[in-house]
Amino acid sequence: MCGIIAAASTRNVGKLLVQGLHRMEYRGYDSAGIALHQLDGVAHLRTLGKVQLLEDRMIEEKPRSKLGIAHTRWATHGEPSETNAHPHKSNDEVFIVHNGIIENHLELKAELEKEGYSFASQTDSEIIAHLLDFNLKQGMTMIEAMFASKKKLDGAYAIAAMHRDDESKLVIARQKSPLLIGLGTDEVFAASDPLAISQLTNDFIFLEDGDVAEISADTYKIFDAVDLEASREVSRIDISSQATSKGEYRHFMEKEIYEQPDALLNTIDGRISGEDVLDNIFGLGSTELFKKVERIQIVACGTSLHAGRVAANWLSAIAELPCQIDYASEYRYRNPHVDDNSILITISQSGETADTLAALNYAKEKNYLATVGICNVPTSTLARESDFVLFTNAGPEIGVASTKAFTTQLAALMLLTLSLAKARNLNPKLRQRVVTALRALPEIITQTLELKDSIIEMAPAIANKDNALFLGRGIFYPVAKEGALKLKEISYIHAEAYPAGELKHGPLALIDENMPVIALAPESEIAEKLVSNLEEVKARGGTLYVFSDPSVSIDVKSGSLVPMPKCDFLLTPIIYTIPLQILSYEVALLRGTDIDQPRNLAKSVTVE
Ligand code: F6R
Repeated sequence: MCGIIAAASTRNVGKLLVQGLHRMEYRGYDSAGIALHQLDGVAHLRTLGKVQLLEDRMIEEKPRSKLGIAHTRWATHGEPSETNAHPHKSNDEVFIVHNGIIENHLELKAELEKEGYSFASQTDSEIIAHLLDFNLKQGMTMIEAMFASKKKLDGAYAIAAMHRDDESKLVIARQKSPLLIGLGTDEVFAASDPLAISQLTNDFIFLEDGDVAEISADTYKIFDAVDLEASREVSRIDISSQATSKGEYRHFMEKEIYEQPDALLNTIDGRISGEDVLDNIFGLGSTELFKKVERIQIVACGTSLHAGRVAANWLSAIAELPCQIDYASEYRYRNPHVDDNSILITISQSGETADTLAALNYAKEKNYLATVGICNVPTSTLARESDFVLFTNAGPEIGVASTKAFTTQLAALMLLTLSLAKARNLNPKLRQRVVTALRALPEIITQTLELKDSIIEMAPAIANKDNALFLGRGIFYPVAKEGALKLKEISYIHAEAYPAGELKHGPLALIDENMPVIALAPESEIAEKLVSNLEEVKARGGTLYVFSDPSVSIDVKSGSLVPMPKCDFLLTPIIYTIPLQILSYEVALLRGTDIDQPRNLAKSVTVE
């Protein structure tokens, strides 16, 4: 999704800003742009496509400047084009970059048109430039113009703005869209993503909703939602640059798949001891809270939702709690009834997904005992806004398709399940079994990654198809859904997932020689039933690609069978996810897609 970086410095900032845009490329975008303050006006460059094209323009035109704003855009209002790319401007004087959506933009546009403003783009963002300009024309300073503008803007925004006649100051504003200040030596930055400025500083100030700030090379001033000067804590965070480079791998996604043994270790590290989970791993007071819980509501999106669907089974089986689960984008609109003693669990890799944050905010008005977040990014809005939180500690995930985020979310959700069971004095033997199994997990993941060669052999037969069906039963149905999501998002092959028993109720009609069927067959009490479902597929000419426990006997005829390492049944969803990630990756490689930044997608979905 869109990314903002801005700088006020005593040195030239053009290159720094473009490097910052490169570091935000993983978020997904379609165009990029920059505005740099110069003695004779503002250098304003925008390009459709990759940041590299913008960098090439910069190399040609060599703008030099100590003050500037830059942006990567992911289209919401108006097609991807140079004209719709940011920065937007008003009268060649005010330049802005914006993340988020201005919901009342049509109304504001009509008002500004009456005042004589004309619009060059189809975006909602352009109105911000004109609104600032309009306020400036009423005699306001830039910061006053931002105070006045924010009162008119409905929706979500992170804004950075500059004026042609001020060579030293930038004005920024935040409302429901991440924005932070970075403090360097003789330079101050603003960015929507700490990674953008991670090479420039370790000192960050996270702005709050309603904040407006003025920054220059040697100072900054922050004003709160009611325009009073405010002080905000400076957080020192080392975002290692190593974690954000591909190293020996071809793609971040590949690197992140193979990082899973370490990532899982980091998730469980310091959270289990002896034969049980430790108390208060979700924060001080969480164990006391968990004693009172009688019902759970989970909300999340995409891959994180699939993790929640697996966990709903665990919560019921181990913590003996009823659990409801919803798409974050749907939850608020179904007028949910909240029983007494319920908690809301949100799951999010980025902690910035707008739908999940909106559901969290909505839930705060309901009678939940507390909100509990599972999140990978400690600096995220979700982490700050949840009552209790457990970080997955997976390290930065750059590939748009979630891999290590998913498996570490599952481990974190198992820790949650164990914590609830422990607080409720339930199933000590089972808890002990799961804790032992969790310790063994990183090693079993390493063994699973060694199946790579058999999976590579499977890939060509799937890469030349247009569709694929994923099957799993019980706790493996959400894993099948995750497999289908991975394949569709990075290879663009249409893929669906079904609980295998549902086949005969409709989807069997799709089966022929062009429909590869990928199935998950662990050892379980319904393994035989699954085998019968797979026989039905074979009988109709479908080709089977099965990941199975060696004890499950399946004849796949012309398809492939990959025997999986042994693992405690309760944790097998984590293990069986891994070959599906590798398969999607290898299929996408053969199809030559943009694996780390698949078309139309964004890493951090900051619009609802
Ligand atoms: C798929 C994927 C998305 C995200 C979804 C939620 O591979 O990455 O489906 O899972 O956009 O994102 P987070 O977890 O950041 O809230």
